[in-house]
Amino acid sequence: MKNFKLIIALVVFASIVSCNDKKTRQAQYMPDMYESIPYDVDAENGLKGEPVNSKPVVGTIPRGGTPAYDIPDTIDGYEKAKTELISPLDKTEKNLDNGKKMYTIYCVSCHGKKGDGNGYLSTSEKFAGIPNYKDRDITEGSIYHVLIHGKNLMGSHSGQLTYKERWQIVQYVEVLREDLLKTE
Ligand code: HEC
Repeated sequence: MKNFKLIIALVVFASIVSCNDKKTRQAQYMPDMYESIPYDVDAENGLKGEPVNSKPVVGTIPRGGTPAYDIPDTIDGYEKAKTELISPLDKTEKNLDNGKKMYTIYCVSCHGKKGDGNGYLSTSEKFAGIPNYKDRDITEGSIYHVLIHGKNLMGSHSGQLTYKERWQIVQYVEVLREDLLKTE
């Protein structure tokens, strides 16, 4: 009988403990399993205190991140991008398809479906000076540069597009331009 009372008491106790408020943190028996203590590799370099995972290793790109674009918006910068900047993407159907999708959303209104400069904003005379891609001596690097910095009346599109989407559009613009040159 004594045991029985003890069992009842234990059951009541357990149910009270387990019905605790779920919103506040309960006792943690092995706190290191919940919050790991990072190994502070930078401690010797005077950067103690920063969480180790907050800094990407030099020369790497965080997953889903964008490498900094450091070519300036100048005439020399444009020439540098034009001759030296190379697309990091492979030429694949998938990249091209997504490039087309993004181009249709962000560029068609001015540049037209074919890239001949006959988009709605051009034909309705809301925007002047939209070129036919075949009349411009452009490269993948210069197209990317213009997407980042804009050019005269064309604004920058760096905010609307991810790093990958920009390069996918570049791939698509190159294909449009080749087609335009073929039908010249
Ligand atoms: C609001 C209209 C407008 C939109 C939207 C627009 N552009 Fe342009 N784009 C222009 C104009 C105007 C120029 C001519 C700029 C100049 O050379 O003065 C131009 C020029 C260009 C050039 C030639 C640049 C060079 O180096 O000569 C490229 C390439 C280009 N645009 C690509 C794009 C792409 C890709 C998009 C979509 C992400 C886009 N544009 C969206 C108006 C637009």
